[in-house]
Amino acid sequence: MVPELEKATVRIRQLERVMGIIRSIKAQGRNKLQVISDFDMTLSRFGCNGRRCPTSHNILDNSRVISEDGKKKLKDLLHYYYPIEIDPNRTLEEKRPLMVEWWTRAHELLSQQKIQKGDIAQIVRESDVMLRDGFHELFDQLHKYNIPLFIFSAGVGDILEEIIRQANVFYSNVNVVSNYMDFDDNGVLTHFKGPLIHTYNKNNSVLQGTEYFQQLSTRTSIILLGDSMGDLTMADGVPSVENILKIGFLNDKVEEQRGKYLDAYDIVLESDETLDVVNGILRYIL
Ligand code: C5P
Ligand code: MG
Repeated sequence: MVPELEKATVRIRQLERVMGIIRSIKAQGRNKLQVISDFDMTLSRFGCNGRRCPTSHNILDNSRVISEDGKKKLKDLLHYYYPIEIDPNRTLEEKRPLMVEWWTRAHELLSQQKIQKGDIAQIVRESDVMLRDGFHELFDQLHKYNIPLFIFSAGVGDILEEIIRQANVFYSNVNVVSNYMDFDDNGVLTHFKGPLIHTYNKNNSVLQGTEYFQQLSTRTSIILLGDSMGDLTMADGVPSVENILKIGFLNDKVEEQRGKYLDAYDIVLESDETLDVVNGILRYIL
């Protein structure tokens, strides 16, 4: 059915159940399907050439427009809060206020750096960001069949939109909800618009008023793509879900996090920098 599921990176706890969901999504037809995806470390790569790839925030943090002092402070925040973000021994309730703290502090620091709207394209071009191998096929397939792709990101919307624009895949079926920058009349960053989206509030609470899912209420089959335990609630706003297939990229601390990921995601992809499995499933369904 889907030969890509034989890849060594694939782990599935309940294979028959997964096959059942995939068959059912196919039977419902492509007009019922929507894809809901995280961005950083899900559509973009976690590592490349033995090094970490940047998140949309890191692209700004590391760019030439940030002062040396600003860079150091942003890096200190990352080193303090990232281990908390992925700690399998802390509850989401414990993590939530700390994530708000991280994002708030980082956005304050970035807002002091006089970042110009007009510099964003160049900042992205000069960064090491990479989309996962196979991104072209993914975006092209979804566009060809007019299947909505909803990117729900706790990263920086202006940056991630520029990444997919430069990759020539920002098609009309792609919608983004994320943290967006606000600029003054001179095009200088002053603050980030609300509501703040962090790793662990990616649910209905920040989608109020966007009406996005209501318009898609007939799209009752969902493929959800994420890399964090916080990504599992991204489809909560969909009014009636008939079939949902959750695919999780397990990028970091693989051994420690495996159990939780296998409990929560239908398919877990361990240290897999490609979209092969997602593309294989879509090829079968479409
Ligand atoms: O797109 P996604 O929801 O994955 O974006 C959030 C990611 O950005 C988090 O996984 C977090 O590690 C990262 N982040 C960062 N710098 C910040 C805040 C979050 O790199 N200041
Ligand atoms: Mg992510």
